[in-house]
Amino acid sequence: MELVTRNLILSFESSCDETSVAVIENGDTILSNIVATQIKSHQRFGGVVPEVASRHHIEQITSCIEDALNQAEVDYDDLTAVAVTYGPGLVGALLIGVTAAKVVAWAHGLPLIPVNHLAGHIYAAHLVEPIEFPAMALVVSGGHTELVYMPTENKFEIIGETRDDAAGEAYDKIGRVLGINYPAGKPVDEMAHRGHDTFKFPRAMDNDESFDFSFSGLKSAFINTVHHADQIHKQLNKDDLAASFQQAVIDVLSDKTVRALHDYPVKQLILAGGVAANKGLRDRLTEDMKHFSQTKLELVPLSLCGDNAAMIGAAGEMLYRHHVRADATLNADPGLEFDWLKQPQSIE
Ligand code: KG4
Ligand code: ZN
Repeated sequence: MELVTRNLILSFESSCDETSVAVIENGDTILSNIVATQIKSHQRFGGVVPEVASRHHIEQITSCIEDALNQAEVDYDDLTAVAVTYGPGLVGALLIGVTAAKVVAWAHGLPLIPVNHLAGHIYAAHLVEPIEFPAMALVVSGGHTELVYMPTENKFEIIGETRDDAAGEAYDKIGRVLGINYPAGKPVDEMAHRGHDTFKFPRAMDNDESFDFSFSGLKSAFINTVHHADQIHKQLNKDDLAASFQQAVIDVLSDKTVRALHDYPVKQLILAGGVAANKGLRDRLTEDMKHFSQTKLELVPLSLCGDNAAMIGAAGEMLYRHHVRADATLNADPGLEFDWLKQPQSIE
């Protein structure tokens, strides 16, 4: 009888405000993906409080492991490896996932695979369809806005990034001015669909040669507009404000992506990260990509746009095949650079 080997990866994600543990089979099948969100605990502070996040991760992680294994109907003995996000992110939050992953790996004699959080966001696409190379990814989240070129598997080259605020961060900051709870991205997206771009906010760096982004000028223009109206007791239409902000963000993100695709012809464009859930951005890229018949657009499904461990398992499996391993000295690296992955590392 032929023996069917299953590659089962137990993966951990705790870089920000979601505690998540998943079991991924053969790099592309989700057997379980437990996500314990802490959003409610952070909302009264208007953003993620690192100390509160760490405490929640500690409280949640053990039950997340149990739930992930139970739901996947696997035992520790069935596992092939353990993968974990070790950066970038909040150091205290990362340390909880890294410590838990190390303990499981050590206790059960399993290889430990260190995963960059952004590689995880991109590899969420691999859970839908195998990534075809060369590929480009637009990764937009609360902490990052990056255009990443991938000539082959396990090669990540940042060709453009934000010089100040990340797109999601800008959403959350202008959301606060509109009286919306953290995280503001989804509600602002919904308001934007009811309004019109009447304010014509600046599209920073849109005509710039580089593929870099800047969102702090847009954020300031938005806040100044609202404050000025407050001072003269003028009522502004909030839906129009949201629509104007969103249109400026989408214009810059899609214009730069389209220009990047002219310079870097790829087989696949991946839209990933928390802000990839934005309906306006998904619609716009879908429209723009009609002009690129050779490039397939892969919009990460809404359920996998936010932080989750399934995407870490998918990236972890790819790194496992490339013999990337960490030992018990693995530490959290809050400022982990993306191009770390250019160097195949093995510290077995
Ligand atoms: O990737 P993610 O879950 O966490 C980070 O790694 O940062 O992204 C969270 C960010 C938040 O800033 C949130 O406001 C934003 O994603 N977001 C959205 C939408 N849904 C979530 N931004 C715009 N439109 C959305 N529909
Ligand atoms: Zn993220």
